[in-house]
Amino acid sequence: MRMVDIIIKKKENNRLTKEEINYFITNYVNGNIPDYQVSALLMAIWFNGMDEDEISDLTDAMLNSGDKVDLSSIDGICVDKHSTGGVGDKTSLVVGPIVSSCGLKLAKVSGRGLGHTGGTLDKLESIPGFSIEKEPEDFFKQVREIGIAIVGQSKNVCPADKKLYALRDVTATVDTIPLIASSIMCKKLASGARTIVIDVKVGKGSFMKTIDDATRLANELVKIGKNAKDFKRNVIAVLTDMDEPLGRMIGNGLEVKEAIETLKGRGEKSFTRLCEKISVELLVESGYINNEEEALKLVKEKLSNGEALSKLKDMIIYQGGDANVIDNYDLLPQAKEIIAVKSKMSGYVQSLEALKMGLAAMKLGAGRENKEDSVDLAVGIEVNKKVGDYVKEGEPLAFVYSNGKGTNEAINDIYDSYLIVKEEVKKEDVIKKIIK
Ligand code: URA
Repeated sequence: MRMVDIIIKKKENNRLTKEEINYFITNYVNGNIPDYQVSALLMAIWFNGMDEDEISDLTDAMLNSGDKVDLSSIDGICVDKHSTGGVGDKTSLVVGPIVSSCGLKLAKVSGRGLGHTGGTLDKLESIPGFSIEKEPEDFFKQVREIGIAIVGQSKNVCPADKKLYALRDVTATVDTIPLIASSIMCKKLASGARTIVIDVKVGKGSFMKTIDDATRLANELVKIGKNAKDFKRNVIAVLTDMDEPLGRMIGNGLEVKEAIETLKGRGEKSFTRLCEKISVELLVESGYINNEEEALKLVKEKLSNGEALSKLKDMIIYQGGDANVIDNYDLLPQAKEIIAVKSKMSGYVQSLEALKMGLAAMKLGAGRENKEDSVDLAVGIEVNKKVGDYVKEGEPLAFVYSNGKGTNEAINDIYDSYLIVKEEVKKEDVIKKIIK
């Protein structure tokens, strides 16, 4: 078999066989095929796509390139959730404690943020002392004992995806459904859970800009779960809004504070609704609870009786963090300055672009441009006015939490991201569609 023939085949819009896909993945990981040939193949895939079988075979080849998490030592139902990446997305920090307080097990392997999207690991590391590194046995032990653990990915999970993702990033081939779907799903299949909710973000701040594209991606994710070679996974794709940022806080420490507030029952309405919905899907689709009404009742109960919050506390303690943050937000990293970004006119917020807000937070230091960059855990943005809200001239649209870096640029980006109009604006539901 020759790599050049595989490139020609895809260039001429033919389907690749399982053997050809395995050949290219195995030899790329082993260093036998150079980046320039894989770049050409990626671009051919970008233009000509892949069918359902090719996508499943690619996922499988990437999955088999490294280690898999074996959850068999954990009794009970293990579930997982994943987000395709958004701005202000701290959902895992709320959904994890909710579902584990209900009785499910969440053994979650998370990632760091890149670009304008944040990552769960960076958020957790803003809790003093919190460690995202655990030996596999300690990780399983924690899940057995308290029902929840969130850690970083070990180096050898899906190495093919790591190599391919880095190449896609510099060859303009990230934004195509076959490559996104296989990249997400190889890591989810490797994580071992059988019921997985994927929060597919739709809108200006995400990879999928339209409902049609998000629906196509969601269908692929669900199909890959059904076609999984070892055992079938139950994948539920929840399509949710990412035109505006999720919740009110953007930035690592700030998002931890918002997650805790939400677990105390004081979360923003649409963010709370999303966390409740994802939790309900996990409870019902895993077969743990019979129907949605019962599941929602349980979720609300765990939020109001403090049991979900206490799961977060347990997790913080088990992972070496200072659980006093739950009652004392001053223990989180603090920015030197908080600056109000005041509205220059009165009216209704028609739009608030998530991408621009995410980039503004990045300029303050909350995100990284390159994988090696460090992040400032204290800085970020508090969104005061969201879509549909009325704002008076001079009232704050948002607050910038700054340590001196990129402040003016961020303030300009924030102004730029708001569109304020005279007519009343209807706020749309954060949940757009569910595909299972
Ligand atoms: N998230 C991933 O893990 N991979 C992609 O390709 C896009 C989003």
